[in-house]
Amino acid sequence: MRVVAFFMGKIPLQKCGIPRNELFLTTKVWISNAGYEAAKASIDKSLKKLQTDYIDLLLIHQPFGDYYGTYRAMEEAYQAGKLRAIGVSNFYPDRLIDLCQFVEITPAVNQVETHVFQQQKTAHEYMKKYGVQHESWGPFAEGRNDFFTNPVLTEIGAKYGKSSAQTALRFLLQSDVVVIPKSTRKERMAENIDVFDFTLNDEDMKAIAALDEGESLFFSHYDPATVEMLTNMGKTRKV
Ligand SMILES: NC(=O)c1ccc[n+]([C@@H]2O[C@H](COP(=O)([O-])OP(=O)(O)OC[C@H]3O[C@@H](n4cnc5c(N)ncnc54)[C@H](OP(=O)(O)O)[C@@H]3O)[C@@H](O)[C@H]2O)c1
Repeated sequence: MRVVAFFMGKIPLQKCGIPRNELFLTTKVWISNAGYEAAKASIDKSLKKLQTDYIDLLLIHQPFGDYYGTYRAMEEAYQAGKLRAIGVSNFYPDRLIDLCQFVEITPAVNQVETHVFQQQKTAHEYMKKYGVQHESWGPFAEGRNDFFTNPVLTEIGAKYGKSSAQTALRFLLQSDVVVIPKSTRKERMAENIDVFDFTLNDEDMKAIAALDEGESLFFSHYDPATVEMLTNMGKTRKV
């Protein structure tokens, strides 16, 4: 599997020069498309826009609005072969458990804010319990908290000839968390994928685990102000 940067709407999929079966394409259903009918239409619209007949992984972006209806449309599209896998994003344990208890197809993935400062240990245990793969968004906390100069990450990385970014990604991978680091720079993309030739030892893992602050560096989906902000965005920001 090759890894490519693909920006929907900017580079037509066919023009990237890589065969479709070597790409892993993920997209999400936004709140404005929540509900069975709207989600069903949005899946077909995405396939058309992407000029492909299947999406590798489709996620529900936020646990708001009629996401049960959305999920039913996704299950149907999965059965029809339009989606290879379906999952969710930003589902904290309460909503994830509720969904897992009542759907036919268990979400393959839950993409949530996860990095060394917010390790999501409790959420991770529930994902494991329900057979949902934990995927990190913001694996570098988007650089917050002086992420790239953190002394623990930098010192541990130096032992292996690796950067703080690579050390942080390795920590997540060894914690059974899938990572999707973002970079607009080719050399950093190469750096971020070069993490499969070293292994952090138990002592390193413990030192990095101790960086966990147990709370979001962005916003919490348990905070009413966040819920209002995102649901209002769902009403006004159409995609
Ligand atoms: N599901 C959701 O609600 C949600 C929310 C947020 C993000 N996401 C997704 O999560 C993925 C991760 O992106 P993110 O934006 O959250 O941020 P991130 O991966 O935590 O951090 C990206 C930042 O780190 C810098 N960076 C990347 N590699 C680096 C390196 N090796 N050394 C130093 N700096 C480096 C980038 O700058 P340069 O570009 O200049 O390299 C960029 O400023 C994206 O696919 C995004 O779409 C999902």
